[in-house]
Amino acid sequence: MPRKQEIVAESQPWWRDAVIYQVYPRSFADGDGDGIGDIAGIRRRLGHLSDLGVDAIWMSPWYPSPMADAGYDVADFRDIDPVFGTLAEAEALITEAHAAGLRMIVDIVPNHVSSAHPWFRKALADPRAPERDLFWFRPGETMPTAWVGEFGGTTWTRTADGAWYLHLFTPEQPDLNWGHPGVRAEFEDILRFWLDRGVDGVRIDSAALLCKDPTLPPVTEGRPHPFHDLDEVHEVYRAWRRISDTYPGDRALIGEVWLPDAERFAHYLRPDELHAAFNFDFLGCAWEAGKMRACIDRTLDAHAAVGAPPTWVLSNHDVTRHVTRYGRADTTFSFDNNLDGTPVDLEQGTRRARAAALLSLSLPGAAYVYQGEELGLWENENIAADQIQDPMYARRGHTRDGCRVPLPWSGDAPPFEFSTAEPWLPQPAEWKDRTVQAQTGDPSSMLELYRAAIRMRRAEPGLHAGAMTWADAAPGVLAYTRGPDFACVVNMSGAAVALPDHDSCLLASGPLDGVRLPPDTAVWLRLPARGQ
Ligand code: NOJ
Repeated sequence: MPRKQEIVAESQPWWRDAVIYQVYPRSFADGDGDGIGDIAGIRRRLGHLSDLGVDAIWMSPWYPSPMADAGYDVADFRDIDPVFGTLAEAEALITEAHAAGLRMIVDIVPNHVSSAHPWFRKALADPRAPERDLFWFRPGETMPTAWVGEFGGTTWTRTADGAWYLHLFTPEQPDLNWGHPGVRAEFEDILRFWLDRGVDGVRIDSAALLCKDPTLPPVTEGRPHPFHDLDEVHEVYRAWRRISDTYPGDRALIGEVWLPDAERFAHYLRPDELHAAFNFDFLGCAWEAGKMRACIDRTLDAHAAVGAPPTWVLSNHDVTRHVTRYGRADTTFSFDNNLDGTPVDLEQGTRRARAAALLSLSLPGAAYVYQGEELGLWENENIAADQIQDPMYARRGHTRDGCRVPLPWSGDAPPFEFSTAEPWLPQPAEWKDRTVQAQTGDPSSMLELYRAAIRMRRAEPGLHAGAMTWADAAPGVLAYTRGPDFACVVNMSGAAVALPDHDSCLLASGPLDGVRLPPDTAVWLRLPARGQ
């Protein structure tokens, strides 16, 4: 049974400064020995999350699905796919997580459904079916638009009766028509379904894409985009917020909003809309002090304007793991900049990832941990083409499978007790040093760094105080204080730098060089009390 952790007396809603751990259920732990992770495996390994000290779990989709996009093609939002277990097991997991002091967030995918969803089946079977209006069907000899899909490629597929239907992702993910009241009512009901089951929040997939310009204009520079971030989408989230506000406890709506414009992004976080959204600006930022500082300032300003908490995200199931990113010459991330296979210095990437952990866990707001980042896992860039399952690969030549590889728990060789069978994606043999078992008790390990940092963050009053203040620092170095006597210093330059005056070093991401902070290292310091 997982150890129950203290929930510190909360002066503000939990989602404002929680550490939220993303579980990707296919790859967390396999309980039934089929090589694919499941709820039984998660329940068995819940102790890992209490030991890590996180506040909440975000569960990537676990619903019935043909798995054309690893479960982001949902056929039924009110049940669980048999590969993951049953609804009763999901309910038991929610209860057990709560008993262990962990909150639960489920993933809702409102932009599209699976082509196996009953609505779409009916729509496809009969051109006069009322369900056609729930989607974007259009007649015609030629494709209605030349829009490029989110995974690349075209966005329309022709039906047997000669109509076209819209899909911003794969043809197996038809887009819903959010102009239809039936779609709105259905998702409001799905939201209630999970809130009634006690979940503490929902993560909203592709949150800025739901509404489309019904005139289907071309994408034109300088004109509003036909399907990104239409103003109408905000009314959807206002309605969801009215619903979540009727539930006891602090239920959170968390948006996956990829938008380059910080102000447009913040619109989603106005007081009557979503509670939080993922910070992809930070995730994609280069490992460079000037750029990082500008990104942090941009984030803080945009969120302050709407009173929302910033979030700090380094990795997730869609992006190259940051140990790998930070070990490349180009440390940025963007889907338009495919760096697969470029040289990686994993030692440097790991050193920077350790420093990034202390950075992201000490900035004001909520922090996200993607499963395996606490183990220092890197991207598996050696998955054979015929083993790749990600539908993005065929369209963009980049696969997200490398960050979705099953976790190594213990033992000296794959499957590292993830499963008794061959895992659905291959694990690197080198992960024998990165298993939970190998790292536990080793003070120099990534896992013990995360455990110590999360424990300290929970207890450190300065890290719950609202603001951060930049402090003077050498070029290439970030330094800031939180509260009266806590400071974080991150050296992103190529040379060791002197540490500021301090009473003690609370935590360091790597060995210090006397009172100097080596390159790619971060430190948490206790500053001398003011006035001394
Ligand atoms: C974003 C999800 O994170 C990603 O995995 C998925 O492929 C797309 N949305 C489509 O649902």
